[in-house]
Amino acid sequence: MDTTVSQLRDYVGKTVILHGWVLHNTPKGKLIFVTLRDGTGYCQCVVERGEATESFFEEAKRLTQESSVEVSGVVSADERAVGGYELRVTSLETIGTSVDYPITPKPHGVDFLMRQRHLWFRSQRQRVILRVRHTLVDAIRRYFNDNGFTLIDTPIFAPAAGEDTGTLFSVDYFGEPVYLAQTGQLYVETACMAHRKVYCFGPTFRAEKSKTRRHLTEFWMVEPEIAFADLDDVIDLAEDMICALVERVLTDHRSDLEFLGRDLAALERIKKPFHRISYSDVADILRGPGAKELLEKDLADKTTEVQELNKKIADLSETAKTARKQWQKDKAAQEEQVARERRSELEEEIVNIPRHAQLAAEFRWGSDLGGSDETIISRLHERPVFVHRYPKEVKAFYMRVDRRDSRVVENFDLLAPEGVGEIIGGSAREEDYDILLSRIREEGLPQEPYEWYLDLRRYGSVPHGGFGLGVERTLGWLCGLKHVRETIPFPRMTGKVYP
Ligand code: 4AD
Ligand code: MG
Repeated sequence: MDTTVSQLRDYVGKTVILHGWVLHNTPKGKLIFVTLRDGTGYCQCVVERGEATESFFEEAKRLTQESSVEVSGVVSADERAVGGYELRVTSLETIGTSVDYPITPKPHGVDFLMRQRHLWFRSQRQRVILRVRHTLVDAIRRYFNDNGFTLIDTPIFAPAAGEDTGTLFSVDYFGEPVYLAQTGQLYVETACMAHRKVYCFGPTFRAEKSKTRRHLTEFWMVEPEIAFADLDDVIDLAEDMICALVERVLTDHRSDLEFLGRDLAALERIKKPFHRISYSDVADILRGPGAKELLEKDLADKTTEVQELNKKIADLSETAKTARKQWQKDKAAQEEQVARERRSELEEEIVNIPRHAQLAAEFRWGSDLGGSDETIISRLHERPVFVHRYPKEVKAFYMRVDRRDSRVVENFDLLAPEGVGEIIGGSAREEDYDILLSRIREEGLPQEPYEWYLDLRRYGSVPHGGFGLGVERTLGWLCGLKHVRETIPFPRMTGKVYP
């Protein structure tokens, strides 16, 4: 019977056929232990000389990492085996050989792994992350579909900028320059005048020149937009959606998150109400004693951790040289690599802390929050923080000017906790024709490409608003990853488009 590893529980005592790839292969006298992965799980396959014909016993012995195989055998339950089941092999056939697979059990740096992304994909960690991504995307769609939103697909070729003109990718469109969409927002605004509650969900593009842990040049964004809504309505929607997403991921992926080392308690704390703090209050927090204390403690903690790592690295390096068994050497070398990566990360952070402290202490009302400022605010709160009403100079032209304080706009960024920072940006949209036109002019944008957008304010304008949630940053937060590069199948970053 053809089956998969995930179904083995239904076949205890029976003979099955599995198709998969060899993770590793350990001969031990009369026995060979082959760990098979088939895309649904891992299974230990035991080949015993005598039970096996001589020819495939030899074949099993020669199996290399990532060879693809067909194996038949009898299923038994075994608590000690990976996945809880074992296959006693009765026949085995190689489908495709694999010679010198580049990703060995030995340690590899992340740059190397990124260039091997097409193969790195097969590792358990990468599979787990992309499965959580799959669920997150499904949860997002379900949330909107179940709450009366209509999906509107927005174009990728865009004649005008939707966000900061400094991050546009231009393409030649039959001799005319157009841009790759930075956002679908202007189009979903149009659509909400027809359908009331809408969303778009697709890839967006930004020519981000700086290399950071939060920036990709191609990323996925979901953008709901609602008519007859003010800023509070939009914030309520974002809060409710985030709670639904966290709950779904916690329900479906508890063991996956544990495998990734995620602190589950931190996710379980994600409950309403989130904090809602104005930009002006955030500016005070940054300059205040709380931020200073946080960074001083950080510096002390990180310095201690580096000292501990120095000792650990020395010990592991010794074990990697002198251990008796090869697997012990490999294991120590692997752990040493991890410890070295962590140490260089910490060393970089330690260098940056004084600069971040200074930036926060000297934060000026009117400037945008930097990455380090967001990190501070996010770390000072256990639940997500909505920072609202930023100075209009640092935000996009379409944001509604606050009628009580025209220095600020009715917008918000949602900062995820644990230092993650912004995962959502949103706002009420300027619904007044004259104010919007003057904002377009102030920003030095040409009026003509926005005529269609201005039409929404000419014909039955209404208060409306929405937000954009970045899938990769959200997934990075949920999985507890430091960097967004592992959250998308094939990351596109400054200077990186291979494979
Ligand atoms: O804050 P942003 O720029 O907002 C907009 O694009 C609005 N038009 C959305 C709207 O109101 N409909 O981007 C929204 C989110 C950010 O919070 C972040 O999660 C993600 O998109 N994002 C990026 N993710 C990865 N790499 C980048 N370079 C990103 N830029 C934005
Ligand atoms: Mg933003």
